Amino acid sequence: MNSKSVAQTGLGLADYLARAEAVILPSRLSATAPPTSVDGKPLRVGVDLGTAYLVLVVLDEDGLPLAGEWQYAEVVRDGLVVDFIGAADRLREMKARLERRIGRELTHAASGYPPGVPPAEVRATAHVVEAAGLECSGLVDEPSAANNVLQVRDGAIVDVGGGTTGVAVLQGGRVVHTADEATGGTHFSLVIAGSLNTSFEEAEQLKLRPGEQTRLYPLIRPVMEKVATIASRHICGWQVPEITLVGGSSAFQGMAEVVAEVTGVPARVPSNPLFVTPLGIAMHDPPRN
Ligand SMILES: Nc1ncnc2c1ncn2[C@@H]1O[C@H](COP(=O)(O)OP(=O)(O)OP(=O)(O)O)[C@@H](O)[C@H]1O
Ligand SMILES: [Mg+2]
Repeated sequence: MNSKSVAQTGLGLADYLARAEAVILPSRLSATAPPTSVDGKPLRVGVDLGTAYLVLVVLDEDGLPLAGEWQYAEVVRDGLVVDFIGAADRLREMKARLERRIGRELTHAASGYPPGVPPAEVRATAHVVEAAGLECSGLVDEPSAANNVLQVRDGAIVDVGGGTTGVAVLQGGRVVHTADEATGGTHFSLVIAGSLNTSFEEAEQLKLRPGEQTRLYPLIRPVMEKVATIASRHICGWQVPEITLVGGSSAFQGMAEVVAEVTGVPARVPSNPLFVTPLGIAMHDPPRN
């Protein structure tokens, strides 16, 4: 795994991502723990409007995760904002909750967009951020955001989210090819629901339990193979010595093995891949009070 420290934090990748989950996931937030001090510090803020999760994350100027909010919301589909009012409302509520927790107003944020979405849709993302009361300081494509955290020089990043799989090829630290195609965790859940004759919501819950993933693996392996085929098609013709998987769905047991098998390229998943892209989006926000 990456031995470099992430941004200026001095933390290795695994510790950095574990810290991010500890300050964002409600199950990890201790009711008794004092809120992280953000007094007077310039902050970097990121908004990720995903198909499955909306994420709002606050970093210090060095990139260290200080606090965040995270919520399931079906307001975006395949990178397109399908429920503008719903997205802005949810984000405004998340901002208010986070502000109460850290005792400070948030005024600005960067946001991200999947590669290949039309410019009007990219602007829609910025409008959601503004409608929630944040000045949108900038927009970054999601794979480049992920690489703000991962710092891959030569290889590929594959972001397996809720609705889509994003691919970025990096050569000499530069993004040279990107793509985003339908297939993600929503498809995993649809297949599980269909196979077990249960609801989508129950399938969503079931697949998050590590104990269940071994049993569910044979059912969703064909969807994993589809993800791997998307990756394979987009790395074709480039020098890709390694694939790094990020996004919530890459946490499903066996993803790296299937991707390595289908692509023929070694693949790895960091220990907490869920927030890599939102953290990288926040790094795109210039630090300000
Ligand atoms: N531990 C886990 N194991 C398997 N799947 C998981 C796990 N944690 C989250 N997921 C799945 O990951 C998906 C959400 O990941 P992520 O937040 O990266 O997607 P998103 O950014 O909302 O979607 P997209 O990038 O496609 O717009 C959901 O389908 C969720 O069920
Ligand atoms: Mg995403």
